[in-house]
Parts: sequence; structure tokens; C-alpha cells
Amino acid sequence: MTDVALPPSPAVDATAVRAVADGLSRPRKELPPRFFYDEHGSRLFEEITRLPEYYLTRTERTLLARWMPVWVAALKPRALIELGAGSAEKTRIVLDAISAAADSSVYVPVDVSAEFLDESAGRIGRDYPSIQVVPVVADFTDAFALPDGLPAPAMHAFLGSTIGNFAPDDAVALLRRVRERMSGGDRFLMGVDLRKDPAVIEAAYNDAAGVTAAFNRNMLRVVNAQAGADFDVDAWEHRASYNAVDHWIEMHLVALREQVVAVPGAGTFSFTAGETIRTEISAKHDRGSVDAMFAASGLRVDEWTTDDDALYALVLASPVG
Ligand code: SAH
Ligand code: AVI
Repeated sequence: MTDVALPPSPAVDATAVRAVADGLSRPRKELPPRFFYDEHGSRLFEEITRLPEYYLTRTERTLLARWMPVWVAALKPRALIELGAGSAEKTRIVLDAISAAADSSVYVPVDVSAEFLDESAGRIGRDYPSIQVVPVVADFTDAFALPDGLPAPAMHAFLGSTIGNFAPDDAVALLRRVRERMSGGDRFLMGVDLRKDPAVIEAAYNDAAGVTAAFNRNMLRVVNAQAGADFDVDAWEHRASYNAVDHWIEMHLVALREQVVAVPGAGTFSFTAGETIRTEISAKHDRGSVDAMFAASGLRVDEWTTDDDALYALVLASPVG
């Protein structure tokens, strides 16, 4: 017997270990939301998008159907680069408009969920013969390469209100990197969830069927698989509540009992009963907060449109400077 910690197993990813250790070392423990999305997590998210309480996806779909034919006909993009594409089901509305406006184009879906991305890209490639699909598996919070020689102009898209999963400074850092890739004729398309009665938002993240709870707890399985941790998933429960000061809903995992979790190569982490790990924020915006975020990122809002109930906005922006 030796008391030297065993090295992590080869399946364990050193970047994942560092991210987990960093988040769990903070005074208020947290884990980055990209750990929601293994193949099972991506499927759970798809289930969330169909829940009656989760108004975001269907509202964005309605806005895309109304505005893509108009905005795409004006820009005539030859390339679509989409961050966090997921199943790309709504993206088909954008691709329909692009294939109507151009004889050939390139679609670059970027996502961290590798198997899921491959399946979505395969389906899109089969269904859109005039569009070359070039999937990129990457963490979009890090620097990553796009394929060379993409045709211009390009539409850069960030749908589903995924921008909300970033705190203000991180959102600006991400948008700045998008801005740096854009030429003058390119455009940025974003969907964003709006501020509203907190009860409506809280219901969307505490669905009656418990799918969001399963999605939240699945993160611990992903962390066990990718960072070699030994979380007991059954010892944690889901919590989501609206933070009216920061205008975001926070998802947490709450420890049901005192426990110690080992992350091989990074040490052990102790939790008291009732202690939480914050797994996600989902910020809600308004026109002013989007204008401020874009101005800080070198982007200018050209089009802003919402549904009749002002639940959700679709935004088109140009690079400035
Ligand atoms: N755009 C889709 C999916 C949104 S869910 C929609 O609107 O429904 C968020 C997507 O972003 C998931 O597919 C997830 O795998 C991906 N994602 C989350 N964090 C990521 C990261 N850091 N890097 C790359 N992709 C990420
Ligand atoms: C991907 N993202 C925009 C979703 C959201 O609403 O913040 C993820 C999600 N979390 C809980 N439900 C859905």
C-alpha cells in the first residue's frame, strides 16, 4: 500500500481535471456548464426544449421563421458559423433561407458535444445538398480554429440564449472574439431571453416532469467520466432560483449529506450537507443590456425584434471600428 495518489486514468482529460479543480476550489463552488453536454446531456437538453414550461426554444423558432427570410435575403451569406449548434434543428430555418439565396454555401456548426455534433452535421449534410457542412468540435470559450477559406459574407450565429450562460465580462470576452473574426460585410445573429416575471422564468427551469433536474444532475456523471471524480449522483438535488439583482436564474446542485469527493491528480473536495455547487447562470437581458454588451464588444445592433409577449429577442448586429 502507498499513500501516493494514483495518477488519473488515461480516459481522464487533464483540461477537465483542471476546470473541475478550479471550480471546486472557489469559496462558492461552481462547475462550468460545458460539463452538461455529453451525448446524454445533449439529449436531455433537446427534451427540455420541448417542455411546456420552456418557452425559449419555441419562441425563438417563431422569430426565426418570421425574420430569417428577410434578413438573409438582404445579406445573402455564403457561410454560416454557429456557436453551440446542438441539434441545429432551428438552424434549418436559417439554412432554408440561405439555400434559397445562394447556390452554394458552407455551414460550420461548433460544439463541445462531439458525438451529438457529428450526428446533427450528418443529418444537415444529407438534407441540404447545396450546403457544405464542416463541423468543428471545440470549446468556444477557448481559442479555436475555423476552416480556412470560408466564403464571404458570413453570418455568425449564437442561438438559444446561450449567451445568457455567461457572466457579463465573460460574455463580452466571447463576443469580442466573434467580432475579431468578422469582416465589415459579415453579420452576427443572436437569440436572447428577456427579463420578465420571475415566476415564468423559474417555472422554465423547474419543470414538472423533472427533466431539468435530470439535466443538472447529469453534470456529475460527466465530471466523473471526464475528470475521474467520484461524485455520488444520488447524493445531490436540483435547485434553480431567480437572482433579481443580477437578472439571472442560477442552477445549483445541493448536497443532500456531508461528503468528500476525490478528483485523482487534483485532491479531495469536502461538502457540508446543504452546500451547493453552482452549475449554470442563465442571464436575462433587455435592449439596454444587449446594447451595452455589444458596444463593449465592437458590435452594433442593426435589428431588434421580439415576440408579441416580449419573452424573447432576435438580434442582428454589425461589426464597428
Ligand atoms: N443552439 C441550440 C443548442 C443550445 S444548448 C439551441 O438553440 O437549441 C447549448 C449548446 O452549446 C449545446 O449544444 C452545448 O453542447 C454547447 N456548448 C455549451 N458550452 C459550450 C462550450 N464551452 N463550447 C462549445 N459548445 C458548448
Ligand atoms: C443552453 N442554455 C441557453 C440553456 C438555458 O436556458 O440557459 C440551458 C438550460 N439550462 C436549464 N435549462 C436549459
